Amino acid sequence: ERIPALLQAMPKAELHLHIEGSLEPERIFALAQRNGVSLPYPSVEALRAACAFTDLQSFLDIYYAGASVLLTEQDFHDMAWDYLIKAQADHVVHVEVFFDPQTHTARGVPFEVVIRGLKSACDRAERELGVSAALIMCFLRHLSGDDASRTLDEALPFREMFIGVGLDSSERGHPPEKFARVFARCRELGLHLVAHAGEEGPPAYIESALDVLRVERIDHGVRCLEDPALVARLARDGVPLTVCPLSNVKLCVFPDLAHHNLKALLAAGLKVTLNSDDPAYFGGYINQNYLDTFAALKLDVVAAYTLARNSLEASFVSEARKAAWV
Ligand code: HPA
Ligand code: ZN
Repeated sequence: ERIPALLQAMPKAELHLHIEGSLEPERIFALAQRNGVSLPYPSVEALRAACAFTDLQSFLDIYYAGASVLLTEQDFHDMAWDYLIKAQADHVVHVEVFFDPQTHTARGVPFEVVIRGLKSACDRAERELGVSAALIMCFLRHLSGDDASRTLDEALPFREMFIGVGLDSSERGHPPEKFARVFARCRELGLHLVAHAGEEGPPAYIESALDVLRVERIDHGVRCLEDPALVARLARDGVPLTVCPLSNVKLCVFPDLAHHNLKALLAAGLKVTLNSDDPAYFGGYINQNYLDTFAALKLDVVAAYTLARNSLEASFVSEARKAAWV
């Protein structure tokens, strides 16, 4: 079959990747040992067994436990480097990496340690792998808007080290409106804006992410199909959706890949991209998402080119660099 070979070899961008979600269980245990951190799981096997998620929150509980082993700049560098090597192997030419500083600063790890470790890995990837990598700082939506604002204050001395901000963690009960003020500040600073919306939360959260937060892309967004007027708006405005099919199945947003709504999203004319979200937890990196989704939904070569092109176009690289790509 030529489609799997095409999917693997196509140059693509990854726009929805939580770096803490790229920590493989073996690496989590190695770092726990190296840093003297104790984990609520006795072994790699026990951790893997706990990864039978029922919803977003059941995943987040384990994801935050896994991230608790990260303490030093080297830890953050190593984590990002491991991911960037895999991204290169999947023919990712550009990646916009999410990170969750509050998960680390709440444990006493300085913001500076987190961002320096991640940024040095991104710079190294550009030099040694030919992969461009930029950072997007995410606010945790289960925490307050004021907490997010304090995190932005801590980040200001490192403004040149990240290109944008996002919003992640528990969606239900935490509407975008909570973060209106901090996103307005970020907009003033010239940062790019994205937010998770419409993964587990209602289509109304997608609308308020656009209207109140003024985001440029929606992360996930799969529940938009419940609101035809919203779909029409997203299509008209070309708002990119960073869809993560393996994540959606693991978190029970869809029962299996054959029931994923990707085909309907494409048919509606939406600017869809495929991404891995938290590859160490959800069963595969970006090419696995492409391969498994194409097999389950019997997608064709046109869809392959459309998704890869969308990923490059929806990225935050300069228009000049985009022109050279597409
Ligand atoms: N949704 C919300 N928060 C997250 C996710 C996700 O898919 N992954 C890591 N944090
Ligand atoms: Zn995500």
